[in-house]
Amino acid sequence: MKIEDLIKSKVNSEVSDLRGWVSSIRDHGGLVFIELRDSSSKIQIVLDSENVDIDTFKSEYYISVNGTYIKRDKSMINKSQQFGEYEINAESYSIISKSKPLPFQIDDSIDTDENIRLKFRYLDLRRDDMKRNILARSNTFKSIRNSMDSLSFLELDTPTLTKSTPEGAKDFLVPSRKQSGSFYALPQSPQMYKQLFMISGFNKYYQIAKCYRDEDSRKDRQPEFTQLDLEILNGTPDEVRKTTEIIVNELLDNVFSIKVDVPFQDMTYKEAIENYGTDKPDLRITETIEDLTNIFKNTEINFIKSSLENSGFVKGFHTSTIMTRSEIDALDELVKDNGSNGLGWFKIENSTVSGPLSKITTDKENEELLKLGDGMLLFQSGNMEIYPVLDIIRRQIFTPVETYSFTWIYDFPYFEVENGEIQPSHHPFTSPKDTENFIEDPNNATALHYDLVLNGSELGSGSQRINSPDIQRKVLEMWGLSDDDIENRFGWFIEALSYGTPQHAGIALGIDRIIAVMLNVDSIRDVIPFPKTQSGLDPLTNAPTIIDENELEDYNLKYIEVADE
Ligand code: AMO
Repeated sequence: MKIEDLIKSKVNSEVSDLRGWVSSIRDHGGLVFIELRDSSSKIQIVLDSENVDIDTFKSEYYISVNGTYIKRDKSMINKSQQFGEYEINAESYSIISKSKPLPFQIDDSIDTDENIRLKFRYLDLRRDDMKRNILARSNTFKSIRNSMDSLSFLELDTPTLTKSTPEGAKDFLVPSRKQSGSFYALPQSPQMYKQLFMISGFNKYYQIAKCYRDEDSRKDRQPEFTQLDLEILNGTPDEVRKTTEIIVNELLDNVFSIKVDVPFQDMTYKEAIENYGTDKPDLRITETIEDLTNIFKNTEINFIKSSLENSGFVKGFHTSTIMTRSEIDALDELVKDNGSNGLGWFKIENSTVSGPLSKITTDKENEELLKLGDGMLLFQSGNMEIYPVLDIIRRQIFTPVETYSFTWIYDFPYFEVENGEIQPSHHPFTSPKDTENFIEDPNNATALHYDLVLNGSELGSGSQRINSPDIQRKVLEMWGLSDDDIENRFGWFIEALSYGTPQHAGIALGIDRIIAVMLNVDSIRDVIPFPKTQSGLDPLTNAPTIIDENELEDYNLKYIEVADE
């Protein structure tokens, strides 16, 4: 019998074979109190000490109890639990399965090292918080499937032993035993396959897809993660946006009981960067970046002067909160850690401007600074590189209001420079907004790419796709791929685009991220049942593991010594 079945039981009725784990034991001389926990509920069991050998009875033993379902004494009611008004007066019990001493207590208030939690994840998942997270995950899948079904999407699956799909990360490779020396790549996303479904004429595709990217793990990134991937035949960015809003709206309502307004607001990439310093703005903070260049146009402050001479600008924030020296130093440290030369600041208090730079400000500058009113002026001077730093300062000094603030970002530049290399800001299957302009001036072209952002986190990304083989080839050329590379990596796909490809558009939403943001947990690891650590390891199974030399031989692979660089 499960604890929740007691809902149907009358007080003072007999209860038999009630099963669960011993969550806690208290011996009160004469009586033993056990908190019994099963998959969804908890209830107190009261045993006569005479009937229990307390020394052989430990936490997390899985037991079966027979007894009577009774009402607790008024003073003993536990209002925080569903069955807190009741208890079981046990007549007998049996131990179904014993537990070894635990590596950590099954308790939400215990601060256990994450590596230990992951090593014993099956125990970690017995905790209430983790149960809640994983249940929210299950309900998320359910809500998505219901929405997709009612929107007439077909659930279509795609292979995971495949060829590389470029999404900006390194691939996980799987050696083929039969095709000696060849490797499959695990998909970074089902991007090209979902486009093939459009070429084949399936009207609306979706999949809850596992994606694999060999990139550094972070709080919002895992090497293996889950997307809601969708694609619409003859779809437009607008249709994808509306469809996404329906799915997200239903999900928030069904799983988190939260209603949000649709349509979501939107802004161009340029507006996002200029106002918030990032293409993932946290709109729970209402303050935006202020242009302060005018204040400093005749400045004698050297670093500002040289920025302005190099077509730079001064941007930052005025906040009415006066910061202490140690708060300023901490923020200075933070911006330096993020590539800035340091925090520019003035303190304005009682009609006086102070701060290290105040010694070199002109009277005019002082006058302008005083006009801002008491508080702090925090700023950066330079060019585009100051925006990410301004984003950090903004999120550090202002407190977000508690809400769910969605926004679409659109009109992204087609190409961006990352680590000195030009690459598509989405992926190379994204349609340029204006093809002619793209061919003439690809570095200034805009993409039909849109992102969905919630509270500073990128939840999803999509685009209208290229449906012409010629433009597809052109994009790959502009990206810098040689003819051979294009042929070897994408020849098969360009071929597929050559047989009457309809217009199509789609999106992928990061399911782990949505749940993590909605549950307000620190990392997506907390909403994934069996995640990897920051360094991509699974402490539970010890994967990845070194393969025995003999086994490698089957794959025609061999370890070689590599000299340290
Ligand atoms: P993109 O690469 O932007 O687009 O991914 C879509 C969304 O997936 C989530 N995401 C991740 N979540 C956890 N860990 C990761 N390592 C990770 N990487 C991405 C994010 C992101 O917004 N094929 C395109 C979609 C399309 O064009 O339809 C794609 O995968 O929430």
